[in-house]
Amino acid sequence: MRVSLSSLASAVANEGGIGTISSIGLGDPEAMKTEYETMSREALVREIAKARAMTDGHLAVNFMGVLSNVDDLIKTAIREGIKLVVFGAGLPTKLPAVANDSSVNLVPIVSSARVAELILRVWDKHYGRTADGFILEGPLAGGHLGFSKDQLTRPDEFSLDCLLPKLLEVLKGYEDKYGRKIPVIAAGGIFDAQDIARMFRLGASGVQMATRFVCTVECGVSPEFKQAYLDADEEDIVIIDSPVGMPGRAIRNRFLRDLETKEKLPIRCPYRCLTACKAEKARYCIALALLNSYFGDVDHGLIFCGHNAYRIKEIVTVKELITGLLTELAAL
Ligand SMILES: Cc1cc2nc3c(=O)[nH]c(=O)nc-3n(C[C@H](O)[C@H](O)[C@H](O)COP(=O)(O)O)c2cc1C
Repeated sequence: MRVSLSSLASAVANEGGIGTISSIGLGDPEAMKTEYETMSREALVREIAKARAMTDGHLAVNFMGVLSNVDDLIKTAIREGIKLVVFGAGLPTKLPAVANDSSVNLVPIVSSARVAELILRVWDKHYGRTADGFILEGPLAGGHLGFSKDQLTRPDEFSLDCLLPKLLEVLKGYEDKYGRKIPVIAAGGIFDAQDIARMFRLGASGVQMATRFVCTVECGVSPEFKQAYLDADEEDIVIIDSPVGMPGRAIRNRFLRDLETKEKLPIRCPYRCLTACKAEKARYCIALALLNSYFGDVDHGLIFCGHNAYRIKEIVTVKELITGLLTELAAL
């Protein structure tokens, strides 16, 4: 939520990457309480326009399938000229119908070859089209994870290095049928040039990185959020049960420690933003918890991060980060 907005996305695009804008909970937090759908739609329009004003490069928008207004947000982004739709946290079985524009690239996020195959089969059968790429997210990623807690205790078995060849194998049949490559972008724990080179060797066409970009000048999260990354030790980075119904990775800060001792935090569901959230049973409101840390109240907020957040030692500009990675990569 909000971690990657116009400032970060445009800076990445200006360095030749694809800058991803989050579509989640962008509106004014108070106004969204009465007009969630309208406010988040208008805020997404504004965020895309702001990014466009700062770059001519490639921009994507990230959508979560569990959002109650996800279809509306996808249509909005496409109306605003976005040509790359990234869809995670849910099965995008109806995405081609919602997007309904063959010039828009549809890129689902998957964590297994099995789910990718299901998507490809449904899209082929019902829409006569295939995916324009996949983001393969491994178990070291930040935020919500497409693995069970049990699978996360066996990271080697489900590592990107194991998952990637299986996914590439599944894609072959569809690449042949549609006469084009379906690129795979590897994500989750990619930290340095060695990691990037390893993914390329295994057949990835690109990598997606999030955690390292949180500690950039251009990332719009509060200084307190970034400081929590700089202060984190490896053992502070934990797996939580998110009200979304998926495990997530976050920093064990005061908010999470309080949850361990308290039964349940009192919730008034302010936004009805998630289809999967059972607000009456949830232990906290994830939207408010993420907003709190975004705005700097990290003691009452959830701080999502990837497994490698503890390795970050300084805040740099996007240009410094990307130039550094490319220089290291060229020297390998
Ligand atoms: C703070 C944070 C917020 C994230 N939010 C989202 C999100 O809203 N939607 C999404 O699909 N992935 C989200 N992710 C996952 C990333 O997009 C990415 O695939 C993954 O974290 C990459 O691994 P890395 O963080 O080790 O680089 C988030 C990750 C982090 C660290």
